[in-house]
Amino acid sequence: MNISEKKLIIAIDGHSSCGKSTVAKDLAKKIDYTYIDSGAMYRVVTLFAMRNALINNEKVDENKLSHLIDQVSISFQYNDEKQRHETYLNGELVEDEIRSLAVSNNVSLIAKIKFVREKMVAFQRELSKEGGVIMDGRDIGTVVFPNAELKIFMTADVEVRAIRRYKELKDKGEEVSLDDIRENVKKRDFIDENRDESPLRKAEDAIVLNNSKLSKEEQLDWIVERMSEVV
Ligand code: CDP
Repeated sequence: MNISEKKLIIAIDGHSSCGKSTVAKDLAKKIDYTYIDSGAMYRVVTLFAMRNALINNEKVDENKLSHLIDQVSISFQYNDEKQRHETYLNGELVEDEIRSLAVSNNVSLIAKIKFVREKMVAFQRELSKEGGVIMDGRDIGTVVFPNAELKIFMTADVEVRAIRRYKELKDKGEEVSLDDIRENVKKRDFIDENRDESPLRKAEDAIVLNNSKLSKEEQLDWIVERMSEVV
């Protein structure tokens, strides 16, 4: 039986902006698995909270959000023409908006809320029940799928990550400064690693990939090799 038929769960966790989604998408394509972007879910809830003015001075109105969260419906579609995965909030395409620095600046505040995480984790498990999934995030190998067959923990130097994200947003036409991006990356890492609910940490059985000096192709080859060892 080959890897595609085995329908495994592959968890890719790690620091902000280290290229988890790039390698997860490349791998999904290569082995014909479904790619699920758990970070996009937290970004959608953040956008929803921002639009409803529920975040002020780095404080979230959790009470109001708890009453409104059931109005949030998240879905994903692959856009053949643009060759990209796209995210929807209640049927509205929000893919570009959720990647903006404004959303990045608030997302870790939303992601540390227990009821938000519970709802997102339930959705992540529901989407994965058939297996054959590659999911990236912060708590996939530790909380969402502690029995995942392959767990990768990705990281890269802060400066490398900041430059990658800066280029990505610039290419999309967003006016951002490298200093602001670097601050955002560091701050998100700090909040994600130090929160009470499902903090970002390496699962004991995860394999570390530091891709500071690796190209896209090299990191994909590295993961494919790890897969062949596991399978
Ligand atoms: O792509 P990038 O590394 O910038 O971030 P992302 O994967 O889109 O995740 C955005 C934020 O969502 C993270 O900084 C975390 O605060 C949160 N997140 C989380 O708490 N748990 C996950 N499984 C995925 C994301």
